[in-house]
Amino acid sequence: MTTKKKTKPSGSGRLAGRVAWISGATSGIGEAAAELFAREGAKVAIVGRRRELGQAIARRINRTAPGAAIALACDVSRERDVKASIAATVKRFGRLDILVNNAGMVEIGDLHTYTEAQWDRVMGVNVKSMFFAFKHAFPHLRKAKRGYVVNVGSISSFVGQARTPVYTTTKHAILGLTRSIALDYAAHGVRCNCVCPGITETPMLWEHLNVRPDPKAALAERLQRVPMGVSLSPLDVAKSIRYFSCEDSAGITGTSLTIDCGYLTAAEWQCTGPTLFQENV
Ligand SMILES: NC(=O)c1ccc[n+]([C@@H]2O[C@H](COP(=O)([O-])OP(=O)(O)OC[C@H]3O[C@@H](n4cnc5c(N)ncnc54)[C@H](O)[C@@H]3O)[C@@H](O)[C@H]2O)c1
Repeated sequence: MTTKKKTKPSGSGRLAGRVAWISGATSGIGEAAAELFAREGAKVAIVGRRRELGQAIARRINRTAPGAAIALACDVSRERDVKASIAATVKRFGRLDILVNNAGMVEIGDLHTYTEAQWDRVMGVNVKSMFFAFKHAFPHLRKAKRGYVVNVGSISSFVGQARTPVYTTTKHAILGLTRSIALDYAAHGVRCNCVCPGITETPMLWEHLNVRPDPKAALAERLQRVPMGVSLSPLDVAKSIRYFSCEDSAGITGTSLTIDCGYLTAAEWQCTGPTLFQENV
């Protein structure tokens, strides 16, 4: 019996021929975006601090998806790391079309207890990183004649959430940065938009729920506040990131897309019973 060699599917997706740099792509939303982009034919740099995790994801993508992937170790709060990871992406894949600024972190606490180092760390990872990435990606985005920048905000870009003052500040700042880039670089063929997720089941969310005595009950309690009654998957959010990373969103720049199952629609909300979104259909 002859064994048939498994071949990778060929790439003719929405992102065929495009090269994307995605930060925080070793888990959660960033990982889902890397997988989705590669399924759509993109070549993807998986950028994050955890090299082994990134390499495992890249191997999986290179085995199964029409696109391709490399893993690059990078602390996004350090300019030289960001610069090197962008240079390595262009060296490996020959160009850069899409920048996804997704890496982020939260510090829970009351503002008066923060140290300057804690404040700087969250600012560095969540906002300054976007400045570094744009600065070093821009020459390549301009060269590509069409550049797509997608910044990941949050529902905390619009409202405050308890005991996350620096996180909330950074996520509001991301909207301002998104608009500034959109304005100043439109002439260079660059569009810049922001995706603002609500409750998404990723390691970041579970890290917070896991400190509660009953994490599943804590999630259910939070979802009482959500009209659709459900959480988002990382893939749900990745699809919005893809939307802003190609011509599906032609003509849109400087805007934000809230993807939150209705969370911000009402000032107050209490689910009174199950919703159809909670049924697996
Ligand atoms: N999960 C949610 O409910 C939710 C809601 C709104 C917004 N977000 C945003 O989505 C983005 C992705 O988060 P996620 O939910 O997928 O969680 P996650 O923890 O899985 O992903 C965050 C990623 O950022 C990486 N990261 C953190 N600091 C870094 C650094 N210095 N250098 C490089 N990488 C670094 C982490 O290693 C991780 O891979 C974040 O910007 C987060 O604020 C998440």
